[in-house]
Amino acid sequence: MIQGIVYTSNTGNTEKYAKHLGEKLSLPVYTLEDAKRSMGKGTPIIYLGWIMASGIKGYKDAQKNFCVRMVCAVGMGQTGTQQKEIREKNQIPASIEVFTLQGGFDMQRLRGINRFMMNMVSKTMTKSIEEKTDRTPEDEDMLDLLKNGGSRVSLEHLAEPIRWYEQNESREK
Ligand SMILES: Cc1cc2nc3c(=O)[nH]c(=O)nc-3n(C[C@H](O)[C@H](O)[C@H](O)COP(=O)(O)O)c2cc1C
Repeated sequence: MIQGIVYTSNTGNTEKYAKHLGEKLSLPVYTLEDAKRSMGKGTPIIYLGWIMASGIKGYKDAQKNFCVRMVCAVGMGQTGTQQKEIREKNQIPASIEVFTLQGGFDMQRLRGINRFMMNMVSKTMTKSIEEKTDRTPEDEDMLDLLKNGGSRVSLEHLAEPIRWYEQNESREK
């Protein structure tokens, strides 16, 4: 039975999702560091981490310490996209459920190497989307995020993870 929600966030989007999910599922919410102090090794958890160059921050550490039952990877892309790539890149076994959630982007809140990397990446991404003649609404949304920053965190994006939990876990309670 899942005992808690554990997260790693850099600019706050993943933290917001973790707290929303904790509230909805009535589970305690911890940062990864707090969780390592508060919960025993192997405790079943849901893990949320932000996506950096397709890797899920903190996932390996979380897996080493806990029994991860579901992973929510928070990135810039649309909710529900990139799930296959994220699973493969992070070598997440089939026994663990994976969801992707759209977080946000805020250059002003980035520091050091993260800011440096996103400065380059965002310019390349902006240019390639601007050059497209058949831009989709998702492209327009990404362009807006890249140019103006913002958060796309919303409870609606958590519908699938909540459904998964209700179908697989809540009846064990
Ligand atoms: C260095 C860096 C690399 C990133 N790489 C990706 C990526 O590969 N895919 C993606 O969807 N988002 C990527 N992002 C965007 C973050 O995952 C996104 O801003 C997320 O909402 C951050 O979560 P947080 O606010 O909890 O820190 C990257 C951000 C940074 C700073």
